[in-house]
Amino acid sequence: MNAPLKGLAMQAPSYVKNAKLIAWVAEMAALCKPAAIHWCDGSTEEYDRLCQQMVDAGTFKRLNPAKRPNSYLASSDPSDVARVEDRTFICSAKKEDAGPTNNWMDPAEMRATLQPLFDGCMKGRTMYVVPFSMGPLGSPIAHIGIELSDSPYVAVNMKIMTRMGKAVYDVLGDDGEFVPCVHTVGAPLEAGQQDVAWPCNKTKYIVHYPETREIWSYGSGYGGNALLGKKCFALRIASNMGRDEGWLAEHMLILGVTNPEGKKHHVAAAFPSACGKTNFAMLIPPAGFDGWKVTTIGDDIAWIKPSVDGKLYAINPEAGYFGVAPGTNLQTNPNCMASLDRDVIFTNVALTDDGDVWWEGMGEAPAHAIDWQGKDWTPAIAKETGAKAAHPNARFTVAATNNPALDPAWDDPKGVAIDAFIFGGRRSTTVPLVTEARDWVEGVYMAATMGSETTAAAFGQQGVVRRDPFAMLPFAGYNMSDYFQHWLDLGKKLAASGAKLPKIYTTNWFRKGADGKFVWPGYGENMRVLKWMIDRIENKAEGSEHVFGVSPRYADLNWTGLDFSAEQFETVTSIDKAAWQAELKLHAELFQQLAHHLPKELPATKAAIEQRLAA
Ligand code: GTP
Ligand code: SPV
Ligand code: MN
Repeated sequence: MNAPLKGLAMQAPSYVKNAKLIAWVAEMAALCKPAAIHWCDGSTEEYDRLCQQMVDAGTFKRLNPAKRPNSYLASSDPSDVARVEDRTFICSAKKEDAGPTNNWMDPAEMRATLQPLFDGCMKGRTMYVVPFSMGPLGSPIAHIGIELSDSPYVAVNMKIMTRMGKAVYDVLGDDGEFVPCVHTVGAPLEAGQQDVAWPCNKTKYIVHYPETREIWSYGSGYGGNALLGKKCFALRIASNMGRDEGWLAEHMLILGVTNPEGKKHHVAAAFPSACGKTNFAMLIPPAGFDGWKVTTIGDDIAWIKPSVDGKLYAINPEAGYFGVAPGTNLQTNPNCMASLDRDVIFTNVALTDDGDVWWEGMGEAPAHAIDWQGKDWTPAIAKETGAKAAHPNARFTVAATNNPALDPAWDDPKGVAIDAFIFGGRRSTTVPLVTEARDWVEGVYMAATMGSETTAAAFGQQGVVRRDPFAMLPFAGYNMSDYFQHWLDLGKKLAASGAKLPKIYTTNWFRKGADGKFVWPGYGENMRVLKWMIDRIENKAEGSEHVFGVSPRYADLNWTGLDFSAEQFETVTSIDKAAWQAELKLHAELFQQLAHHLPKELPATKAAIEQRLAA
């Protein structure tokens, strides 16, 4: 760690030449009053040093190097385990620009609220200056951010999750643009005060100023609340940039899929948090799909820009995965398990007696472990008290380059051309396995009205169905209806250029049977659905048209190697008239909530579905 330095503005290393940046760091240092400033260079040596410092401080435990080389376990404060949607604000100048789905506060009022909270918030701590690029350095689709944070956990996670380090300053130059991101755990240390392993504050604010493209985050050290390149920048601020500049920032995985003829397509899929993006992005085709191959470009976020050739090109702005651990195992996601062999930061999983990690759904439970809260855990305790060894939102942070299925083009500054979009919610009833939209507007309708059961990825009640348009409910940085309009406008623009638009699908892997269990086997078996989509793009597969799109019949899917009966297929694909009438009422409620600026195409599509349903 740097020794505390005096004359804060003077401390910038010689390679930092951006005057605006230097002035801003000085201003923030004067406000937050850290004991020291550390300008991150992004080197491995720096990463190792910060990790060791956290081991010494008790924030990290080094895992057994024989089992899990170069890996660490962090256990957060039990109150700081997920995104806090009710504490997330879009502070646009006008309330209507944040829209009814975002928390809003007048920017001046918010600044006045945050000012006293940030005043002295880093006392006794080091302020890390974290330079990062979202997207390949210098790519025309990429953008730069600088995060100031008093959390070394943030600094090392940003090293894995973004292109972080010195080279960013070369791209930034003397007068380049960056998104300023200020983050504090909100736990200043008074002289002599003993630190805790995971400092944070009960009060939390995750604040975005879309007009000035600023991010201010207070009180949490966890995930999307603190790694500000991810949701705050790459989705909430970037969606504003995309609206203004004619591109898309989406909560989507990106994958490449190559068929046995060697033809490659690219698919971007939006599933809500903890609904299977990482799994789908790393899918291994099951037996019976010889010659099919799936490769990962991204697992959480896509930046998508129209090109002069009329196609949409997507990049993954991230460089790593901050993925859900529970449920991941050698059957559900072998590529992910292989990615986690080494060089991983685990957060809130359990520690085994041999210095390795364990989580629910990983495989055979250990006889004893230390749970994510530091308590003894045994299968017997779990049975008696229901205690989880790992928190349901426990996560791993790992570099994309650890993924054996990484697509060769994952780092290509041009991006990859998207052939299909998928929107998929988590619904135990009603929504069929897969549906193809007949046109762009119908696809936008499906995405806009998507519902999903809430998960542990966000603080709050779990398992309740809520509308999650485009899987962007917590991430759209402006009015949701304007966002729908942006999608419709983009479709019109592409169509006008004579381009073939990507097909749009919706999926639901999560229908349950009478026994309360998932009927569809999911994971690698999702390849059966993906193949149908790709074959549809190539005009090689049939389907049957129904009230809101086209779905495969039993005979339209390849069942080689899977024992899945026509009756089971019916359970995951049936369209129940009464259930859909009830569902459409929920669409109506959503449209009522979003009435301001709601594109007229959406209620018109709804009316057409209702008519067909009544017929
Ligand atoms: P975020 O990182 O939160 O945005 O989520 P994600 O969409 O990347 O979630 P992830 O792929 O990590 O999904 C985690 C959860 O989804 C776990 O509970 C998995 O077991 C479950 N899951 C993933 N794919 C499937 C599937 O095909 N079927 C079923 N039933 N569950 C799945
Ligand atoms: C999500 O919640 O969608 C995530 C995890 O990808 S976090 O980065 O914490 O937002
Ligand atoms: Mn996500």
